[in-house]
Amino acid sequence: MNGNGNTSKRVYVAGHNGLVGSAIVRALKRRGYTNIITRPRARLDLTEQAQVRAFFQAESIDEIYLAAATVGGIHANNIYPAQFIYSNLVIQSNVIHEAWRHGIKQLLFLGSSCIYPRLAGQPITEQALLSGPLEPTNEPYAIAKIAGIKCCESYNRQYGTNFRSVMPTNLYGPGDYYHPENSHVIPALIQRLHHAKTTGESEVAIWGSGKALREFLYVDDLADACLHVMGLSSAAYRSATSETMSHLNVGSGSDVSIAQLAGMIAEVVGYQGRLVYDTSKPDGTPRKLLESSALRRLGWSPQVTLEQGLREAYHSYRRAGNDGDRHAPARGLDPLSMQCRRAFMRDSAHYHAYQDMRAPS
Ligand SMILES: NC(=O)c1ccc[n+]([C@@H]2O[C@H](COP(=O)([O-])OP(=O)(O)OC[C@H]3O[C@@H](n4cnc5c(N)ncnc54)[C@H](OP(=O)(O)O)[C@@H]3O)[C@@H](O)[C@H]2O)c1
Repeated sequence: MNGNGNTSKRVYVAGHNGLVGSAIVRALKRRGYTNIITRPRARLDLTEQAQVRAFFQAESIDEIYLAAATVGGIHANNIYPAQFIYSNLVIQSNVIHEAWRHGIKQLLFLGSSCIYPRLAGQPITEQALLSGPLEPTNEPYAIAKIAGIKCCESYNRQYGTNFRSVMPTNLYGPGDYYHPENSHVIPALIQRLHHAKTTGESEVAIWGSGKALREFLYVDDLADACLHVMGLSSAAYRSATSETMSHLNVGSGSDVSIAQLAGMIAEVVGYQGRLVYDTSKPDGTPRKLLESSALRRLGWSPQVTLEQGLREAYHSYRRAGNDGDRHAPARGLDPLSMQCRRAFMRDSAHYHAYQDMRAPS
């Protein structure tokens, strides 16, 4: 069923410096791929069509993992909606269109669970797409991601390409963005509890009741899912999708409460103080869980338990010098990203809805 066999094919990973892209590069290397093509943004700005065209002309690419995107939390989505919709639409349109123009048949588009309606039934099935209004705070981003799925489907229908889409749940792991106020919930808690341990704080306050339920997937499991989906035969992929409902959810299949998660992270970090919950602060959506059984039936399942993954994440956080190095200018952040991240840092109030901050992703 899975055709990941030819390890000499030329595989382009767009967004290879990001959380997802770097995990896909690791997965390809683990499987022995020898021709992994990457370009830093400074050399290939994917919003520039001429650059994208020249890149595909110069490189004979066989398949593409499209993990480059402008990604951010509620606050960034709120203050930069134009950039979020513009850059994501343009990046994905450039890559998908130029891939087709250059005869590349295999492409995997990375979407996000924010494509689903705000009040989608739980667990969220693929069929919930376009069945109701979106979460307003990240609607422009979600619209761009939905357009990416529909773009892949349209090229498949008109040009016979084999462009596929996956919608991952909340991800964490090596390469995550660590910032005490602006990260996803897992890196935020790792950093907060590590700090509390090293400074001897007796108590850490966590905003919200701790009861909200969230699903998490270790990013290397996601990367394996991406390679698995890319390698599926057309017949296998078609057996679980349709021409106009072609995306697959990728989740761990279970959720935990924020209180359980915080307890697990405290144990991993070795923090022995008290965790207290500030119920005057919002919990966000009570539950967000993807229904990922279609991909399970196609032969993929996650390998890393939440506990193992948290240990790995903590180790990589420590190895990265307690900074996770995600806001270093050397990463080639463009002014928008730096602007967004500085704005996050200025406005810490938004952190406290952190359970949903980058959860739109
Ligand atoms: N993180 C999650 O929890 C999560 C969950 C579900 C889905 N996803 C999806 O996975 C994908 C990747 O997310 P991520 O978390 O890996 O994001 P990320 O860590 O912010 O990485 C995004 C990557 O895209 C690159 N990029 C952005 N704009 C570019 C441009 N104009 N030209 C070239 N490269 C550009 C960035 O380059 P620089 O390094 O130069 O900035 C970075 O390497 C997104 O589509 C996202 O929706 C993520």
